[in-house]
Amino acid sequence: MQGIFISMEGPDGSGKSTQIELLKSYLEAKGYDEIIITREPGGTVISEAIREIILNKDYVEMGYMTEALLYASARAQLVSQVIKPALEAGKAVISDRFVDSSAVYQGMARGLGVETAYQINSYAIQGVMPDLTIHMDLPAKVGISRKKKQAELDRMELETLEFHERVAQGYRDLATLNPDRIKSIDATMTIEDIHNKIVKYVEAVLNR
Ligand code: TYD
Repeated sequence: MQGIFISMEGPDGSGKSTQIELLKSYLEAKGYDEIIITREPGGTVISEAIREIILNKDYVEMGYMTEALLYASARAQLVSQVIKPALEAGKAVISDRFVDSSAVYQGMARGLGVETAYQINSYAIQGVMPDLTIHMDLPAKVGISRKKKQAELDRMELETLEFHERVAQGYRDLATLNPDRIKSIDATMTIEDIHNKIVKYVEAVLNR
């Protein structure tokens, strides 16, 4: 089978994990016998260790460039250890966040610039880009209040509402700039409606 790489993007609390589980079952039914689910920052022992550093809420003095480079290093390890080999073996890979998170959070919301964010990451991704990116479009306020109910907030989640609003808008702008790859879905719809929309986009890619 042909490998397929799908990334899920969106503001914090946009419901990506629920949809990833449903998408996994759908791809299994489509005949993919191995579906790799991964997350960023994380997905390997080393990348999870880097995640601990990035999201530690005590590290308030972390510079934006340091942050961007740490996300990129976690990504470099994940791409070479997990994503690239899986795609070469014809597996399906679903990643909870990928390089677009850096374009939006570091490039747009932190202000490093989208071009700079992609440039930094060009070394990390080694030419691997998603076949399809699902953008779960959700107002920043809704996402953060969902997160607050779930667990203690991490360093990124503790950012101001303005920051999260720049993230939410940044994703919309990025999707407009990349209409073929990034598909926006209204994340306030029901779980089932969202899943059905995702399936339509995945089918279009599989039939390409
Ligand atoms: P996580 O708990 O995985 O967030 P969520 O459950 O909302 O997906 O934490 C990842 C955080 O890191 C999230 O706030 C987004 C941020 N992030 C970046 O700023 N840049 C990146 O490149 C990535 C992958 C994540």
